[in-house]
Amino acid sequence: MSYAESYQQARREPDQFWLKQAQSLAWYKNPSIGFATDEDGNDRWFPDGELNTSYLALDVHVEQGRGDQTALIYDSPMTGTVEHIRYSDLLDQVQRCAGLLAQQGVQKGDRVVIYMPMIPQAVVAMLACARLGAVHSVVFGGFAAKELAVRIEDASPKVVLSATCGLEVGKTINYQPLLREALALAEHQPEQVIVWERPEQPLTEAGLLRWQTLLDSAEPADCVAVKATDPLYILYTSGTTGKPKGVVRDNGGHAVAMRYSMSALYDVQPGDVYWAASDVGWVVGHSYIVYAPLITGCTTVLYEGKPVGTPDAGAFWRVVEQHQVKVLFAAPTAFRAIKKIDPEGEFIQKYNIESLRTIFMAGERLDPPTLEWTEQKTGKPVVDHWWQTETGWAIAGNPVGLEQFETRAGSACMPLPGFNVEILDADGRVQPPDTQGFIALQRPLPPGCLTTIWNNQARFESGYLRQFVGYYVSGDGGYKDADGYLYVMGRIDDVINVAGHRLSTGEMEAVIGAHPAVAECAVIGIRDELKGQLPLGLVVLKDGVYVDDDELSTELTQRVREEIGAIACYRQTVIVNRLPKTRSGKILRATLRKMADNETYTVPSTIDDPSALDEIQPLLTSNA
Ligand code: COA
Ligand code: AMP
Repeated sequence: MSYAESYQQARREPDQFWLKQAQSLAWYKNPSIGFATDEDGNDRWFPDGELNTSYLALDVHVEQGRGDQTALIYDSPMTGTVEHIRYSDLLDQVQRCAGLLAQQGVQKGDRVVIYMPMIPQAVVAMLACARLGAVHSVVFGGFAAKELAVRIEDASPKVVLSATCGLEVGKTINYQPLLREALALAEHQPEQVIVWERPEQPLTEAGLLRWQTLLDSAEPADCVAVKATDPLYILYTSGTTGKPKGVVRDNGGHAVAMRYSMSALYDVQPGDVYWAASDVGWVVGHSYIVYAPLITGCTTVLYEGKPVGTPDAGAFWRVVEQHQVKVLFAAPTAFRAIKKIDPEGEFIQKYNIESLRTIFMAGERLDPPTLEWTEQKTGKPVVDHWWQTETGWAIAGNPVGLEQFETRAGSACMPLPGFNVEILDADGRVQPPDTQGFIALQRPLPPGCLTTIWNNQARFESGYLRQFVGYYVSGDGGYKDADGYLYVMGRIDDVINVAGHRLSTGEMEAVIGAHPAVAECAVIGIRDELKGQLPLGLVVLKDGVYVDDDELSTELTQRVREEIGAIACYRQTVIVNRLPKTRSGKILRATLRKMADNETYTVPSTIDDPSALDEIQPLLTSNA
């Protein structure tokens, strides 16, 4: 089916369209109903279907003769390891890990928090939970103890799975003190914390169980049938408040969306080598390191390394050549980092990248110079595609598996079938082409998107569904051109994007605001050539408090590292006398951001005292 036919059918007859896509999967009980609304008014897919996601990712391929095919390549320049794991071996490992969890009492519906580096056991752990119908919640290994604690508290896991350490360039991150601190902070206490002992860091902390030892006595566990609408995982993401929100993904809709996107968008077939250079802690890792490639019967690459420095700017091209990667997916930041070190693309010439057909980028806006550089130096087409943790797969992109559209720099191309993208003004009116507004998705959302916020249906409704009746509001602003190409211009809320990582300025403000010298503060994301955006804190001191500016700045940087994580990259603090606000007391963050980025801005008519902005301008522009 062409793109136009697919898009129209998915819009007019979503039930039929998605039930047809669902037929490509091995359900235990085939769904007869496409879309329905549950008792909370949430859109749900395939409510009478039954399946097991781990079965779809592993068993079915072994049953169909793919047992000897490599399922996962673990490539770790951090440890000098390259390991090929066959489908039959991965199945075996997952069965035993599921047995281990079952032995600890984990059952269908129980939560398991997974705080892991990029090692095969992270993938095994996710699939083992799915096998039992347990709900995993993977926490990115770069988050600090407090972030882990917040997630443990909210997800209330029966078991936490972890490892003794993560590896960063030049340093070993010992997870054990982080686990201890997180457990001390969280009220909820898991029954067990089970830790994979890595050779780089022995298990020393009392009270932690050694994963390898438990495996010795674990019986392989079979798949548990779950309803399509049962949750597969919770993935926490940054919102506008200090508390992250637990995006809930179901089993059935997710599996269908994963499989469909692999053929329609990425044009990937069973047996192809697919590499998403992300981390299992992010949605890209969930969808395109683990679930989609395995459900499709591809070989997925799990890369424990960086685009540069492990050992050099040729790392990506080395992996492509060595593993014959067909599709590479990474964040634009990664290519900006490579370009900075290797502007002429000399490293690319050292490797044979013939196997590579397309490079996909997402996670942040793809700036035209990075698009052009990558296309020019690699000679490969680059596809920008736009999505979010909430949607689980791309809302818009060049659907090369259906039809190849011409690339337009700055655009994420066309909405994918199932995503009814509209640009709305503040009153919810659909906007004509070339007019900027809120990017909203007309409901129902297609399979694979979030079904609610864990423990917080009210936040799901107020955060996404209430602003415009009948629509999901994405939090991004942008426009469509006359040909239907979508241009995503950035967040219209207080979420920022640092090196493709989504962070909440509200969370950083909560950390900074807790410093005894700080009366109030605002964190904004300012433009950065490498990481897209970096946070900058504007801080008002308490009356009568005198501090050394540099000392305070260092202390605040340290606090954000300790409470959120180094990944926040918070390093810049500017002390100001007051913050510009509206008459109702709202800080004018968007105006401050434009000012810091040297963009033109209009002073809002609602401003309380315009001189507050004038005072800040020289401080911000000298910082830029
Ligand atoms: N565990 C612990 N710490 C981590 C971590 C992890 N998993 N990941 C990152 N960090 C730390 C880093 O060590 C660094 O700490 P430092 O301030 O002490 O040096 C800090 O967090 C920032 O890390 P990072 O953003 O990786 O910055 P960098 O300067 O080391 O590397 C890039 C720059 C561009 C190479 C890197 O940001 C990158 O690879 N970006 C692509 C991101 C990506 O793939 N995102 C996927 C989303 S789809
Ligand atoms: P995350 O939930 O971490 O995947 O981050 C989602 C956010 O990243 C989106 O809401 C956008 O703001 C941004 N984003 C992701 N992909 C793109 C893209 N291709 N173009 C522009 N912004 C993007």
